[in-house]
Amino acid sequence: MNIVCINGSPKGLKSNSHVMTRAILKGFESATSAIKNIFLSEKKINYCTGCYSCWFKTPGKCVIKDDMAEIIKVIKESTIIILATPLYFNNISGTLKVFFDRLTAMGGDPHKSRDSSNKEAASFIMVSNCGFPYRSQFDVISLWIKNVTKILQAKLIGEFYTTNGKVLTQFDNSQTDARNNYLDYLTRCGTCLFENGELSEELKASLNKGILEF
Ligand SMILES: Cc1cc2nc3c(=O)[nH]c(=O)nc-3n(C[C@H](O)[C@H](O)[C@H](O)COP(=O)(O)O)c2cc1C
Repeated sequence: MNIVCINGSPKGLKSNSHVMTRAILKGFESATSAIKNIFLSEKKINYCTGCYSCWFKTPGKCVIKDDMAEIIKVIKESTIIILATPLYFNNISGTLKVFFDRLTAMGGDPHKSRDSSNKEAASFIMVSNCGFPYRSQFDVISLWIKNVTKILQAKLIGEFYTTNGKVLTQFDNSQTDARNNYLDYLTRCGTCLFENGELSEELKASLNKGILEF
């Protein structure tokens, strides 16, 4: 099983998003899987120009020559795809959106019905964090990923949204235990998702807790 984590933070390796996905991926460690981290901030990815060549002229192939072809290859070979993004104006980052638009090259009109018995459907995990303490800010991302995975005929097996994300990378002594407990929780979620394909009721019960409540 191949697993890929797409990091859509301009801060890449130094991002709060990465601290979250690192903890989730730690839960996959028992797997003999190949795990790849892709930091979009390190890649050259141009805007989709909407020419539809990738649908009609050269199916599956984008006319733009940049790093997308290699990333699409990795995605096609992956069973679990983790998307991580900071919350920017209540939405995914521009970095992740520019990347996502280019996934148009992965197939023809995704709205057309396809064989829904596709057992090979990839599983997505959505990860995001934000600066302010308001959980409702993630409503747009949650709706977006639910719709997008439906269009892609993929499964959405987990959503992890963290307010006060700064605590993940810049924490003081009074916050250390809560932060570490939260990361342990993410690791347990990762293990559970990897082994069962869904979260247990016990793990689900803590999904809406803030980091400092752990
Ligand atoms: C352009 C921009 C827009 C942002 N919009 C929001 C927002 O709407 N709500 C919020 O709580 N934080 C917002 N933030 C703060 C980031 O979500 C926060 O700093 C996050 O922890 C960054 O995550 P990262 O380290 O993974 O990039 C914004 C930051 C930037 C730079």
